[in-house]
Parts: sequence; C-alpha cells; structure tokens
Amino acid sequence: MPNLTQETLSMNSITRRDLFRTTAGAGVAFLAAPSLAIAADEPAKLYTLPKLPYAFDALEPHIDAMTMEIHSQRHHKAYVDNLNKALAGTDWAGKPIEGVLAGLDKLPEKVRGAVRNNGGGHYNHSLFWQLMSPKGGKPSTALSKAVEDAFKDQVNMFKLLKEAAMTRFGSGWAWVIVKEGKLKIVSSPNQDNTLMDGSGTPLLGIDVWEHAYYLKYQNKRADYVDAFFKVINWDFVSERFAALAKG
Ligand SMILES: [Fe+2]
Repeated sequence: MPNLTQETLSMNSITRRDLFRTTAGAGVAFLAAPSLAIAADEPAKLYTLPKLPYAFDALEPHIDAMTMEIHSQRHHKAYVDNLNKALAGTDWAGKPIEGVLAGLDKLPEKVRGAVRNNGGGHYNHSLFWQLMSPKGGKPSTALSKAVEDAFKDQVNMFKLLKEAAMTRFGSGWAWVIVKEGKLKIVSSPNQDNTLMDGSGTPLLGIDVWEHAYYLKYQNKRADYVDAFFKVINWDFVSERFAALAKG
C-alpha cells in the first residue's frame, strides 16, 4: 500500500486573487468559494485525481482502508475520467469546477447530465477527503458561534445532519452549507450540491452513497455517520468557514 502521509492536496492553498479568478463569470454566490480546482494561473487542462492528504488506513477504525482506497482510487477516478470525456473539445474543459457547476445551464445539453453527475462527483469528493483527518481537533471560535447561532450547539448540529443523512433516500449527500455567513443543513441526491442552484457553498458534507460505507458498515448508515463525526478535520473546516464567511 503506498504511503501517502507526506503528500498533500494542492487544493488547500487559497488566495483572494484565486477566489476571484476561479469564480470569474460564475456569479456573486461563488466569490467566496475556496477553489477545489486546478490552479487559476495554469492554462486549461484535464482535471486530475487529487492525492489523499493521509494514508488509506489513517482513518481506521472509523473509516476502513479498503473503503478509502476503492472510494478514492476507483470511484472518484471514474468521476474525473468521465468529466474529462464529457468536456473534451468544449470551452469548459479543465475550467475551475465551481464555475462549471454553477453554469450547468450554459453547457451544451448533450453533456449537461454527464457534467452534473461527474463534475459534482469530482467537486464533492475533492472536498470530502479534506474534511477528514485522524487528528481530531475542534471548531474555531468563529465557527462555533455560527454553529450556535444556527443550531444551538454542535450536538444538535450533528443530530440534524444525521437526520439529513438518514432521510436522504438512495444515494446522495448531507451538507452543512454556508450562505452569507450563516449555516444551514440540507441534503442532495446523487452527486448534486448547492453550487448548482446557488443556494449556498458546501462547508461540510457526508457522502451517503453505499460505496462510502458498505464494506465496513453494510446497511448501517447511522453507524457510518457517527464514525464520520469522529474524524472531522476541524482545522480544515474552520479555515474553510473563515474563507466562506468573508464573502
Ligand atoms: Fe463517494
């Protein structure tokens, strides 16, 4: 098994200039969205599978190594490959993914569905890997205050987020999103997210596709959701909230 502990996601670095370049033409709602895409200074190119910022087994026993490996190296890779295929030969090829998802209605109709599914899959999973860490931690003061304002406390936020995860029928995601500095919990089907309808930017999300948990948890989605809560990378989420709340 490759040791990925020294490797990091280049997507973590965010500058104000990148935010604006990344989201140019994508609409006001996305001006504060941290980029999950290729560097803005590079010419258009193919999307690539990001490397995990930890080893496949780093989240054991909560999320097992085989699930992490298959989920990232096969499922996420398929989204990347299919996204590249769908956009090949169009002006959108390799463009920052946030803008692509915000502009789905501008895409040629024949590729729109494939880009929605695979572009959504690429964005959602690129975020998801960074949301987890073996080191734990706790939310920043600013994020804790936003959580208290929206949900009373973190315990209640987890309760509501778990409800969203459990009531999402079939495959999808449960989200904590940010809109104008305020937090809200929603869920989405398939690989959709709230960039697509402009209702907010994902801050924290739980993949509730069976491929995310079936090997270890089988049909026990609730146990997987509880396990996810134990590996949240609060430093990353707090930094992301700070960037998004600046608007
Ligand atoms: Fe997934």
